Amino acid sequence: MKPADDPDTDYKALVQQGYDQCAAAYENARRSESNPELDLLMEQLSPGARVLDVGCGAGVPVAQRLAEQFHVTGVDISGEQVRRARLNVPTGEFIQGDILSMDFPPAHFDAATAFYSIFHLPREEHPELLRRIRGWLKPGGYLLATLSARSEDAYTEDDFFDVTMYWSNYGLDEYQSMLTQLGFTLLETTVIGHGYTEEAQAEHHPLVLAQAAE
Ligand SMILES: C[S@@+](CC[C@H](N)C(=O)[O-])C[C@H]1O[C@@H](n2cnc3c(N)ncnc32)[C@H](O)[C@@H]1O
Repeated sequence: MKPADDPDTDYKALVQQGYDQCAAAYENARRSESNPELDLLMEQLSPGARVLDVGCGAGVPVAQRLAEQFHVTGVDISGEQVRRARLNVPTGEFIQGDILSMDFPPAHFDAATAFYSIFHLPREEHPELLRRIRGWLKPGGYLLATLSARSEDAYTEDDFFDVTMYWSNYGLDEYQSMLTQLGFTLLETTVIGHGYTEEAQAEHHPLVLAQAAE
């Protein structure tokens, strides 16, 4: 783990290029995981609901499962991830770009998901990202997001599927307070495991289901 504090490094470009390079290996790893935790959200939505998947990756398993019942819009900064998502989820709509450069209409989505993606943006942008997601959701809409248990300054690791990758996050208490200040009600917080090395398999992430005020 190295501090990611070089003012001359574009860390978003590093994330984008990193996922362009490791997309095949990442998809392979993700395919072997099931996502029962999506049930939490899916049982709240009506068929045909509009769902935004933030940092959708190759669309498996999250967008693929959601697309069985809902209209899915996936956004990912990596062109290779988006290319794969379009192949894996032909009924979904996928857009390449930084989620913070998206311009969706207000109150457009019934739900948003963000699995293992928010922590790839600089954490200074997390309050604004959550505020935008809140604005894109209809009143009463849902957010299902993996967040982080404890606060960590920005850092990189060199062994993420053979590329250098960047993370940055606050702790769960801080995210919970951001969400409540934005008018979300916290419905459920569970913990899910996900990791990219033997050691990291022991990593656990809080998964928060929140509902925007009516
Ligand atoms: C760990 S992967 C998770 C992919 C997928 N959500 C899943 O559950 O497998 C994180 C994804 O977030 C994307 N990502 C990172 N920063 C992003 C940003 N600023 N805007 C959009 N996507 C981003 C990456 O390209 C990558 O595909």
